[in-house]
Amino acid sequence: MKNYITTPIYYVNGEAHIGHAYTTFIADTVARHSRLKGNETFFLTGTDEHGQKIEESAKKAGKDTQAFADEISKTFKDLWDGFDISYDKFIRTTNEDHKKGVQKAFMTMHDNGDIYKGNYEGHYCISCETFFPETQLIDGEFCPDCGKPTNIVKEESYFFKLSAYEDKLLQYYEDHQDFILPKSRRNEVINFVKGGLHDLSVTRTTFEWGVKLPSQMNDDKHFMYVWLDALLNYITALGYGKDDKNMDFWPASIHMVGKDILRFHAIYWPAFLMSLGLPLPKHIGAHGWWTRDGEKMSKSKGNVVLPQVVADAYGLENLRYFMLREVPFGQDGDFSQRAFIDRINSDLSNDLGNLLNRIIGMSGKYSEFNIDSKDVIKYHSKELDAMASVIDNLEPFLDELRTHRYLEELWKLFSIGNKAIEEHAPWVKIKEDKKDEALATVALIANILAKASIMLSCIMPETTRKISQALNFTIDTQSYQKLILDKKLLDAFVIEKIPPLFPRVEAPLMEQEQKKEEIIAPKMQTKKESTVEEDNLITIDQFFEISLRIGTILEAEAVPKSKKLYKLSVDVGEKEPRQIVAGIREFYSIEELIDTQVCVVSNLKPAKLMGLLSEGMLLAAKDEDGLSLMRPEKQRKAGSSVG
Ligand code: MSP
Repeated sequence: MKNYITTPIYYVNGEAHIGHAYTTFIADTVARHSRLKGNETFFLTGTDEHGQKIEESAKKAGKDTQAFADEISKTFKDLWDGFDISYDKFIRTTNEDHKKGVQKAFMTMHDNGDIYKGNYEGHYCISCETFFPETQLIDGEFCPDCGKPTNIVKEESYFFKLSAYEDKLLQYYEDHQDFILPKSRRNEVINFVKGGLHDLSVTRTTFEWGVKLPSQMNDDKHFMYVWLDALLNYITALGYGKDDKNMDFWPASIHMVGKDILRFHAIYWPAFLMSLGLPLPKHIGAHGWWTRDGEKMSKSKGNVVLPQVVADAYGLENLRYFMLREVPFGQDGDFSQRAFIDRINSDLSNDLGNLLNRIIGMSGKYSEFNIDSKDVIKYHSKELDAMASVIDNLEPFLDELRTHRYLEELWKLFSIGNKAIEEHAPWVKIKEDKKDEALATVALIANILAKASIMLSCIMPETTRKISQALNFTIDTQSYQKLILDKKLLDAFVIEKIPPLFPRVEAPLMEQEQKKEEIIAPKMQTKKESTVEEDNLITIDQFFEISLRIGTILEAEAVPKSKKLYKLSVDVGEKEPRQIVAGIREFYSIEELIDTQVCVVSNLKPAKLMGLLSEGMLLAAKDEDGLSLMRPEKQRKAGSSVG
């Protein structure tokens, strides 16, 4: 069987963060497991380099656009290489082959009657590279996806007849119930299509950083819409438009994407493919969004979690395990060091690591490290049956990308092992002169570890390689066939002593959290002794969900027609100052505010007051005599965190 697995291609306007790493880890997991099963596998990742957003980012950085794209694309490639991501091809949309493929696709759609020239006027969000109808805008102006202001763009454009595909798409979703994973996201897509599809503007005349129209079109003014260009990467990577060399991998088994770009993959892309006369991908897997300590990650907030930093602190495979275990597929996940450390200590160190340490210790004591499966069936048929039933039910979880359930089930194997050790207590059996039975239990554990390692290898390839080395076998398609499919046991072998794989982590290893840790300790103690009703208390984690920052007020002006409100411009350490509308006019003059510092709640959802957007709130104390703003005792840097 041939399997083709893809990640989205990443925009080259910034460094990779853990959200990007998550998509890539899941896709890598699926690709590795596919190879383990002996399937021919093609795994694609790469970078999305065209469009206004990239053009503007390069300009801001004062760099030539191509040089800028080269630089950032390399940071992605280097990261994935350092992370041993098993991709077969890294595509870049600025590659000539890709551009030719896009032009060929455009021409084919045109020749099939799906592309026509017209005029477009609409609200465009540069950040999302998407047009939105007025009805979808927030407060008639802001992008419904990212919240940033949209611009009205009026231009001549070529259109793709998306509206003609409404019924065909709905029929396809109906006939392929598992096209969209998790299935809970199907309705969202179906409702969008049922709401009516407008034809899609697929060219732009307002920027030049894109693929030109095919020369046959004789129209130099237009450049391809970046999403048309980007989605086509999935086939140009296989040689579409060049030599079709790997087109036998098409259709893709799975396009892994984040929920924010599901619409492009589940609606636009299938329609383009229908127009090209190509089959549709088998699955689109849409995962949730990662936040940090409950907050959306953004460069401006300075809370972006960089995968390399986490991997350096905690270990790459621990990170893979954590991300894939912690979050139900499709749901949003939160990155907190606390949760991460708990996973390392309880799942990896206690459950898996200890089991390996125990059999290394016991086999050393009882049999000079020799392990033989010959009596396992005799003494442990109950455990073998339980183990087989866990393993038999595992793969469907991975097929549906439910990695957290896959790992949860897989961990049942370690429970079976730990329970068998307690029940059969080999150290007692040795004393009772029942050495065969004691050694059978040790061999059972070795087999559990071996089988579990094979199934875990797609998520923790290097760790499981070390375990397999200790157990003297190799994880590959043959051992998968023998130990998993044929349910056989390990041949007799001598176990190799290896150092503990998962040292316990006692305190957060990344800087920012260490500071929190110092605050957490005394607070937890007082809580224990406290007589205050527990119900009225919040945990420190809840407290830290609120982001408090020092802000410097740069400008202030009275809001017309309001007695209470000022419109403030406040520097909270981000690129741009925030606009905050505050009800403090009765208590402060403009002079008393400008150039002074305040404490800002910086992760409040933006709201509108008197038609003005307010992106935060000032802290103040109020009683019957008046109101006082909370200010730092001494001047602090704008953006300093409070807590
Ligand atoms: N270039 C487009 C994709 C084109 S695919 C033909 C794009 N790029 S992106 O760099 O902005 O995002 C790439 C992927 O990262 C998306 O799947 C997106 O959902 C994911 N993530 C970006 N931020 C994320 C989180 N905070 N959490 C989880 N994933 C997120 O979109």
